[in-house]
Amino acid sequence: MNELRLLRPDDWHLHLRDGAQLAAVVGASAAQFARAIVMPNLGAPVVTLEQASAYRERIRAALPPGSAFEPLMTLYLTEATEPAAVRAARASGIVHAVKLYPAGATTNSAAGVRDWRRVSATLAAMQEVDLPLLVHGEVTTPGIDVFDREQVFIDQVLVPLREQFPALRVVFEHITTRQAAEYVRTAPGRIAATVTPQHLLYNRNAIFTGGLRPHWYCLPVLKREEHRVALVAAATSGNPRFFLGTDSAPHAARAKEHACGCAGCFTAPHALELYATAFAAAGALGKLEGFASWYGPDFYGLPRNREQVVLRRGPWQVPASLPFGAETIVPLAAGETLDWQFAGALR
Ligand code: DOR
Ligand code: ZN
Repeated sequence: MNELRLLRPDDWHLHLRDGAQLAAVVGASAAQFARAIVMPNLGAPVVTLEQASAYRERIRAALPPGSAFEPLMTLYLTEATEPAAVRAARASGIVHAVKLYPAGATTNSAAGVRDWRRVSATLAAMQEVDLPLLVHGEVTTPGIDVFDREQVFIDQVLVPLREQFPALRVVFEHITTRQAAEYVRTAPGRIAATVTPQHLLYNRNAIFTGGLRPHWYCLPVLKREEHRVALVAAATSGNPRFFLGTDSAPHAARAKEHACGCAGCFTAPHALELYATAFAAAGALGKLEGFASWYGPDFYGLPRNREQVVLRRGPWQVPASLPFGAETIVPLAAGETLDWQFAGALR
């Protein structure tokens, strides 16, 4: 197979940042995806409908002329988020989910939730108005090994939370372990997971190959090979609970090549190529369309896109670096040769 056609996909987990950084990256997502669930972890988190609405306008204003990209906004859950805020968000039609960051888990998560029981009334309102909860699934308890944070989160947070709110729609974001894939596959109720390209393509050795490689550092961190294999099996299984969410998380090269480097892989410009590489390696290119273009909108209750896009086989080299406002950014797999290339909309 030298050409792959699929319905235009959406990105169900994306960081677009703000200001000059937003302007530098949003065009890349708009070129490949019709819509994206936009993460709310700006320097000043997006906690209200008004903030989400203003951020949405900034994103739309930063789009290249002629692009039809639709930002699907999220609210950042804090322990002060009122039930009324999620009801207003739901009624607005522009907010599609609420994101739970355990406080301290990742970039700009200081305002996140320390104990989910303190936000029970808000979770109850989300369940009532059917607004999905997106979870960064890692505990931050001191003493828990960084590689165990996701599986401990399942037992300590996800299971009890979902027992209390069994009808709440939940997306377990950017899963990284066999245990998370197994939980999502077998758990009762309305649960799904997003899977990133880096967690399908690499195991944790990538962070340490020949030296310390900061551009492979993201959170949750890459895991052992057995986990990567389990994620590939889940993503290529055709199970609609697993769908595409890049977690493309741009940071300037300077901020990653640093004594305390930022977490995040920048994959927006070549996201589909990276996913196609992972699916091709598994002999499962035929499952890419469901994962990339069907199951996400189905879960969120949105229509599937209508237009088709094309990927062509043929080697090309990922750029070593790209402009990022006044800075530069290093995309994931910089300098590597990929075998699939995005060729735009079918004409
Ligand atoms: O690697 C990550 N980067 N993981 C996250 O959860 C946040 C993200 C970011 O915003 O940089
Ligand atoms: Zn993220």
